[in-house]
Amino acid sequence: PLITPAQVGRWSAAYIVNKINAFNPTADKPFVLGLPTGGTPLTTYKELIKLHQAGDVSFEHVVTFNMDEYVGIDKDHPESYRTFMYSNFFNHVNIQDKNVNLLNGNAEDLEAECQRYEDKIKSYGKINLFMGGVGVDGHIAFNEPASSLASRTRIKTLTQDTRMANSRFFDNDISQVPKLALTVGVGTLLDSQEILVLITGHNKALALEAAVEGCVNHLWTISALQLHPKSIIACDEPATMEL
Ligand code: GLP
Repeated sequence: PLITPAQVGRWSAAYIVNKINAFNPTADKPFVLGLPTGGTPLTTYKELIKLHQAGDVSFEHVVTFNMDEYVGIDKDHPESYRTFMYSNFFNHVNIQDKNVNLLNGNAEDLEAECQRYEDKIKSYGKINLFMGGVGVDGHIAFNEPASSLASRTRIKTLTQDTRMANSRFFDNDISQVPKLALTVGVGTLLDSQEILVLITGHNKALALEAAVEGCVNHLWTISALQLHPKSIIACDEPATMEL
């Protein structure tokens, strides 16, 4: 039988829960978890909520950092990544609001906002586990093709391809998709102790190939995973078509 996105969700959620429980987080020593948005991680969030409801995991001492956020849409916009995170995950688990970190795409000084985020991450030492997805063109977070592999949190201009892909969330109207985003850098991601990337669907097959079999290069920023001592890809079978 084919490995399905639902199985990727179950496997990745169990993996995260085991990590949190083995770490045994406390208020003084929280578990620091990096998180993505997008269609791919939805099955993982559903499973994490189920495991929480079953009493298998507590998020009380888990600190989260989301990878990215659009610039210029209201924070309560239905498609803001903040809205996504609260409605698909945070509202359903016992995470403390003060432990949730999101980039503010409406900050008056966007560069200062990016620096604030980097400083906040550093204040915890290292992110224990960063979960991510990948764009069809191989971008991780919003590190679009030709992003520096040493990049830190910053403002990025979204490519036409990414805006077209994400227009499905904006009434299929590309003019409604923001042109800019704030995103953690590839360097920020590589600093994490561990990276877990979810890749599902045949439309991601080239991205998975670039991640695993391609050269490390800044046009497919997902390929930077090869530089990391502990990066894991969880994928379904259609995504492996080009391997
Ligand atoms: C956006 C996000 C990425 C995400 C990608 C793929 O570009 N910034 O973090 O990985 O979309 O999303 P999906 O899982 O919906 O294909």
